[in-house]
Amino acid sequence: MKIGVISADITSESRVAITPDAVKKLRKLGFEVVVQSGAGQAAYYADELYQAAGADIASSSTEVITQSNIITTVNDLPAEATESLSSGQIVIGMLDPYRNTQLDTYAAKGATVFAMELLPRTLSRAQNMDVLSSQANLAGYKAVLLAANEYSRPFPMFMTSAGTVKPAKVVILGVGVAGLQAIATAKRLGAVVEASDLRPTAREQVESLGGKWLDVPMSAEEAETAKSTGGYAWTPSEQYVKDQAAVVDKALSNADIVITTAQIPGRNAPRLVHGATLAKMKAGSVLIDMAAGTGGNVEGSVPNETITTDNGVRIVGAANIPSQLAAQSSDLYANNLVNFITTLIAPVGDDASASLALNLDMEDEIQGALAVTHDSQVRLAKR
Ligand code: NAI
Repeated sequence: MKIGVISADITSESRVAITPDAVKKLRKLGFEVVVQSGAGQAAYYADELYQAAGADIASSSTEVITQSNIITTVNDLPAEATESLSSGQIVIGMLDPYRNTQLDTYAAKGATVFAMELLPRTLSRAQNMDVLSSQANLAGYKAVLLAANEYSRPFPMFMTSAGTVKPAKVVILGVGVAGLQAIATAKRLGAVVEASDLRPTAREQVESLGGKWLDVPMSAEEAETAKSTGGYAWTPSEQYVKDQAAVVDKALSNADIVITTAQIPGRNAPRLVHGATLAKMKAGSVLIDMAAGTGGNVEGSVPNETITTDNGVRIVGAANIPSQLAAQSSDLYANNLVNFITTLIAPVGDDASASLALNLDMEDEIQGALAVTHDSQVRLAKR
């Protein structure tokens, strides 16, 4: 059985789905691997490293697809690659399922397509396949470094003979995997950190990392909703949104750095920072909007651009931070994929002559959750 690795469009994506180390793991499991030439280049994995690990190199995506049973990718396949798919092939990647425009084509081709973002995250046997966590963790760390680089003052407090340097005040909005790592990184750099999230359970995590919790008042009904969503984000009331805007406005008027991470799977990101608040911020302060690619938490943020407002506030539209740590994020992503691929196969025959067979099972709670097309049908429920 052969696994194909398709190259991402390197103008917007530096990660690769399978690394040379992952090739070794797949070879041990009994797979053959074919990699599109140059697929790992932007993550510093040259074709020769793949060959040394036991993979073949193919010159085009079409060549990879015509040879492979399972096709791996970082983002959605390019349209010309999708056209080359045939019935029974499997595609695995971060396919942005709710905004993916190719699902009907995948179904028409008869491919079984797995979108890794749909993993049930609280299932313990799925945790080593959780691409959202592996990538968000790195992104939260790097967001702080990007902010530190944009900011014209240091993060830590310094006592010097020329005067005392005050520590930077950092505000983190949205404290999931990325936000927690951002708090830890900003604290390690010596900043004073405040953070908020609409999940009340995040408070304890913020405080355990040495951050100050920015509290937004919540009705008894909302507190109940928050409990019943199993720790995931919920749709807040108008009153909550208003109160949150007031808390954010006050905190940001004093902030040097703001990192926003709030996303809602399948929907546009919530707007957490409005123009009126930006107008009160200090010249030289920096916002990193990690939700810029899905509508933005910050008014005026533009994906992959840095905007300077009239009052000298800089807004970085950080649409794809994991791509900026391509080698490490590819390593973790490839591990997540290998762990998932392992669940798709069953050995056939005894040890000596064992070969691999696909073991597709839409009743399985992981496969069933990830499959967006199967049996020529689109299976994704609308949000
Ligand atoms: P995410 O990337 O979907 O969103 C980031 C954060 O923004 C979340 O904490 C969310 O509550 C918050 N947020 C969303 N809308 C907001 C709003 N209007 N105002 C303020 N904050 C808002 O989150 P991520 O990191 O993917 O985590 C999602 C959930 O999954 C969290 O509850 C997390 O604890 C949970 N999780 C559980 C895991 C496990 O049980 N193994 C592993 C990873 C995550």
